[in-house]
Amino acid sequence: MARQKFVAGNWKMFTSAASGRALARAVAAGVTDDRVRVAVAPPYPYLALIAECLAGSRVGVAAQNLYPAHEGAFTGEVSPEMLKDVGCKYVILGHSERRHGLGERNEFINLKVRAAIDAGLDVILCVGETLEEREKDHTQQIIWRQLYDALAGFDRALVHRLTIAYEPVWAIGTGRTATPDQAQEVHAYIRGLARKAWDEQSAAALTIQYGGSVKAENARELMSQPDIDGALVGGASLKPESFLAIVAGAA
Ligand code: PGA
Repeated sequence: MARQKFVAGNWKMFTSAASGRALARAVAAGVTDDRVRVAVAPPYPYLALIAECLAGSRVGVAAQNLYPAHEGAFTGEVSPEMLKDVGCKYVILGHSERRHGLGERNEFINLKVRAAIDAGLDVILCVGETLEEREKDHTQQIIWRQLYDALAGFDRALVHRLTIAYEPVWAIGTGRTATPDQAQEVHAYIRGLARKAWDEQSAAALTIQYGGSVKAENARELMSQPDIDGALVGGASLKPESFLAIVAGAA
């Protein structure tokens, strides 16, 4: 069975209540094709508002992070249950801006994946190498470590709740996209790891998005590679025209 393409927009720390609402409405109005699964990830304060705007549409809501506890004295943090409660279906974990900018480690990401799954949130797990790691030919080793540690303890049943987003750090927000061949090579490697860790059927069912300067102009070619099942989009998800053009490129 062919995998369904999945396009998610990561709004990062952008939008306001008003601009987020307008963006969500325009995206919802433009997503009519159910061949492609679509989600947007607004900043925390707007999650409930955007979930309300998107209720009944084909667009799901994702959070950009969570704290791995049900509740407690964790000032400033947000639990997976709270995210569920305000209408989130997904959570993005292990984004490179959190790994590299905020020092998040694989073991901590593993706890977050566990907490998300237990609370009923599906996970978009980001992995990717830095430019230096790629130049030293360490890409596969880095990806392997990130996946192995973040997913330690999970069996093949996870595959239906998980999306891997391959996001080379050197391609995020830089305008420099991995070529379709470069991306496909890593995606095939990731699927091979799933085959080894689980089995052929689970590997074939795993959704693997590409992220890093995806735009309307390069989306279709990237997503036509055999192991690229969609995109995690940053900058280009902030305008309905460019985001919807990417979604159209996935169909
Ligand atoms: P970008 O971001 O599309 O702006 O490069 C992608 C991401 O960080 O998920």
